[in-house]
Amino acid sequence: MPNPAKRLTTLDLLEAKRAGRKIVALTAYDALFGQLLDESGVDVVLVGDSVNTVLAGQDTTLSATLEQMIYHTRMVRAGVRRALLIIDLPFLSYQVSVEEAKRNAGRAMQLTGANGVKLEGGRAMRDTVRALVDIGIPVMGHVGFTPQSVHALGGARVQGRGPEAGERIVADARALEEAGAFSVVLELMPSAVAARVTEALTIPTIGIGSGPHCDGQVLVLHDMLGLNERFQAKFVKAYANLGEQVRAAVRQFAEEVREGRYPDAAHSFEQ
Ligand code: KIV
Repeated sequence: MPNPAKRLTTLDLLEAKRAGRKIVALTAYDALFGQLLDESGVDVVLVGDSVNTVLAGQDTTLSATLEQMIYHTRMVRAGVRRALLIIDLPFLSYQVSVEEAKRNAGRAMQLTGANGVKLEGGRAMRDTVRALVDIGIPVMGHVGFTPQSVHALGGARVQGRGPEAGERIVADARALEEAGAFSVVLELMPSAVAARVTEALTIPTIGIGSGPHCDGQVLVLHDMLGLNERFQAKFVKAYANLGEQVRAAVRQFAEEVREGRYPDAAHSFEQ
């Protein structure tokens, strides 16, 4: 994205796809990391409902609430100036009825200052996506492995293997584009399926565990920083090993306190 001072919009993502520029997305759950991502030139900051597993320590995203998502997104908004900020709609905040989806997505936008919402599901979400777009809410879709359906899908498994399953994902993504979504996350699918979807759509695809042919890539920040050591997946590349660094720093602090070496004169005040 060429102009570093400009606030990005959904149109910039469409333009990036047209121009063949890859889109860089990461998750954040607080102002500090939001600011670090923004300063590093990330294009899309997603406040994912993965906050429920990564920060809140739960096994799935299913128990994330709208209040929780709003709370974290308000924090991230305080740190993000340039990137497009997206709030993930949690389970049951948009599936019950289109009316509920409009009210909940509207509240999410109104109370957080986010630039758009993300929701999971393909063809089944067509009417919901259209209704949100019609009232001015930009929607990012999410197909393939959809974590809010983890129990129905039999765990976190690669989706779209085999020609029919692959075509179903293409149809899901097409339905989202037709309904007005501005982009779609492709999670855990063979690279060839993601390539098919990416070619079939005019809106950008953002891949996670879906190979190199997507228009952009997203990862959970704590995974790629090596902070979320509970989660190990083939597609996650650890760009840092912060978990180990945190342990080493804390061990050193504890040792210095116990031995009376901290605080020393340099970290104490004179009369
Ligand atoms: O909740 C999340 O963090 C997500 C990303 C992994 C795409 O949905």
